[in-house]
Amino acid sequence: MTILAIETSCDETAVAILRGSERQSSSDLLASEVASQIAEHEKFGGVVPEVASRNHLAQLPRLLERAIASANVTINEIDAFAATSGPGLASSLLVGNSAAKGLAIGAGKPFLAINHLEGHLLSPFFGSKKIEPNIGLVVSGGHTLLVNVRGVGNYEILGRTLDDAAGEAFDKVAKLLGLGYPGGPEIEMRAQKGDAKKFDLPRSMLNSGDLNFSFSGLKTAVRYLLPKVVIPNEVEGSRAESFKVTYRDPSTDTGDDMLADLCASFQQAVIDVLREKSLRALQQTKSRRLTLSGGVSCNRALRENLRAACQKNGIDFPVADSWLCTDNAAMIAFAAMLRLENGIVSSLAEEIDPNLALA
Ligand code: KG4
Ligand code: ZN
Repeated sequence: MTILAIETSCDETAVAILRGSERQSSSDLLASEVASQIAEHEKFGGVVPEVASRNHLAQLPRLLERAIASANVTINEIDAFAATSGPGLASSLLVGNSAAKGLAIGAGKPFLAINHLEGHLLSPFFGSKKIEPNIGLVVSGGHTLLVNVRGVGNYEILGRTLDDAAGEAFDKVAKLLGLGYPGGPEIEMRAQKGDAKKFDLPRSMLNSGDLNFSFSGLKTAVRYLLPKVVIPNEVEGSRAESFKVTYRDPSTDTGDDMLADLCASFQQAVIDVLREKSLRALQQTKSRRLTLSGGVSCNRALRENLRAACQKNGIDFPVADSWLCTDNAAMIAFAAMLRLENGIVSSLAEEIDPNLALA
């Protein structure tokens, strides 16, 4: 079975063609094209919905042609067409969804509406037919979820963020620090040289007794710390947050060290909360497997920290390859394949839903 999937939920336009869910050879993922719009949104410090949807519209025909050519298939050889139907930006979701529906109608083949979070959640199993029961930690720019995964389509949300998502916290703190967008890789790069113990930042809700998260207090703590360690030397534009900063330490440190220390301390605070809540979710459900997915799971310190904790506790820890962690259409094609193999297809009347729930 061959599936063509389109992902346009946020600022990545992506098309993938996947044959079969069991990956006997690497050629089973026949094509995976991703066009990032980072350059377009960078100057705004975040995604501008109107700009994103216009770009999807401009990019998608080219990506579809390229994917079909590199997969060396014809439209008639494709058995189903899938698209992310939510959650995400309405005007962006509409572009990919309408295209996939149009292709399905034109080719007379089924359409599958896929939940973006399900794409992330199942990505650690990419290439295998069997989804082993697990506790899934999904950490992306829009979501932070702990999910009890019993099988494909059988999910129970155990905890979620009550305010900012983990990736959103990385992006907002990077912006506060005058770093580029997306903030995750910018902070991770600097954190490598920093001292994570230098600044005592809050581990919010660590002892809340539930499995929910909160990252907005951490962002605010960084904000209040800034005047003590940095001098805003240039205010750009009208947004007070987008000042360029000079880092100083009244005593010994050089400016760069301060920035690295801030990044490392912030990153460690996020990691500590994600690790402790994940371990608690495993304990509560008596699960022996943790999976990690979503854009923030590219973060090597997070992966290593969770891997070490899992190893210590005898927990299996499958993680998606880095290229599958940030938004892509291969994970959407994989989720669609698992559904199709279980006889599940969607109605063409199914609408996009910016707030689509996972469970
Ligand atoms: O999954 P994703 O591509 O898009 C959403 O579904 O939101 O995740 C994007 C998020 C951004 O917030 C970005 O800053 C974060 O993932 N991210 C990282 C890293 N790479 C991307 N966060 C921390 N460390 C990274 N290396
Ligand atoms: Zn995502």
